[in-house]
Amino acid sequence: MAPQDRIAQVNKHLNYPGGVLAGQVAIITGAGQGIGAEAARLFANEGAKVIVADIDATKANGVADAINAAEAGRALAVVGDVLDANYINDLVKRAAEFGGGKIHIIVNNAGFTWDAVVHKMTDKQWETMLAVHNTAPFRLVRAAAPYFRVKDKEPRVIINISSTSGIHGNAGQTNYSVAKAGVVGLTKTIAKEWGPAFGVRSNTIAFGYVTTRLTGAKEAGAFITQPDGTKVALGIPGKQLDAKKGSDAKAAEAAAYPDIPLRRPASPEEAARSILGVASPWFSYVNGETIRVTGGRNM
Ligand SMILES: NC(=O)c1ccc[n+]([C@@H]2O[C@H](COP(=O)([O-])OP(=O)(O)OC[C@H]3O[C@@H](n4cnc5c(N)ncnc54)[C@H](O)[C@@H]3O)[C@@H](O)[C@H]2O)c1
Repeated sequence: MAPQDRIAQVNKHLNYPGGVLAGQVAIITGAGQGIGAEAARLFANEGAKVIVADIDATKANGVADAINAAEAGRALAVVGDVLDANYINDLVKRAAEFGGGKIHIIVNNAGFTWDAVVHKMTDKQWETMLAVHNTAPFRLVRAAAPYFRVKDKEPRVIINISSTSGIHGNAGQTNYSVAKAGVVGLTKTIAKEWGPAFGVRSNTIAFGYVTTRLTGAKEAGAFITQPDGTKVALGIPGKQLDAKKGSDAKAAEAAAYPDIPLRRPASPEEAARSILGVASPWFSYVNGETIRVTGGRNM
C-alpha cells in the first residue's frame, strides 16, 4: 500500500476525514527542495495550507505549483532570503493573508552547511551559520507571535530543524554545530514562554543522515549564493555514491553505513514524515523535546 493510502486509511479510522492538519496554516522555510519540500507536500496532503518559503524562486514555485495542481489553493510560494529581516516580516504577513488571518505551524527548516576546521574557519562562515540557523528562526517566530499568542483553542506548533552535529559536535562544523545546538535552546524557551497561556508546542527535530544535496557529493556542484554574491559549495568532498544495482547495491549501502543501525540514510520524505508526525495531533503532548531522527545512529 502506498504511504498516502495508508495515511488516508489511518485518518479515517481516527476520524480525521480532511487530514490530520485540516484547516491549519503552515509556514515551511527551505521548502523549495529536500526535506522541506517533502514536508510541504505531506502537510498539504493532510489538509494544511502551506507557505513554501525559499530563496530559490524556481524551486519554491515548482513545489507550490505541484501541490496546487493536485488541489488548487493549497500552497503559496513566498520567495526570499531568511537572512533578510524585511523578507521575514513579509513572509508572516503573506502567510496570514493566505491563511485567512491564522498561522498554526512554523517549520524552521531553511539551512545549509559551510564547513572548515576550527583553525581555518572565517568569521563570515561562523556568523553566517548563526544567522541562518538561529537569528532567522528567532525573527520568524517573533514576527509570527501575534498568530501564536492567541486563545482560539486551535493547535499551534513550532518545529525547529536541528542536526546530530548540534548534539554530538562534528569535526569541520564548529559553526554549524554551535548553531544547531542553539536551536535546542530556542525551542525550549518558546515552549516555556508560549506553552502556559497559549498551549503552543515547540519541538526540535535533529536529523542524522538524510539524502539531500547537503549530503551528496560536493563534486556534483551544488552551491548556495550569499547576499554578497559569495558562492558556498554544498555537499561532502570525495563522497561518491555507489552505482551498483539490485542486491549488490543493498549490500554496498549496508557496508557504507556501519554506524547506522538501520544501515541506510533517510530519504527526504522519510525525514519529512517525522516533521508531519510532530505537527500532528498524535504528538499533542510532546513539547520542548529534541527528537532525534537518525536510524539509531549515535545511540
Ligand atoms: N540532509 C541532512 O542529512 C541533514 C541532517 C541534519 C540536519 N539537516 C537540516 O535539515 C534542513 C533542510 O536541509 P536539506 O538537507 O533538506 O537541504 P536542501 O539543501 O535540500 O534544502 C534546503 C533548502 O533551504 C533553502 N535555503 C537555504 N538557505 C536559505 C536562506 N537563507 N533563505 C531561504 N531559503 C534558504 C535552500 O534554497 C534549499 O531549498 C537544514 O536546516 C539542514 O541543516 C539536514
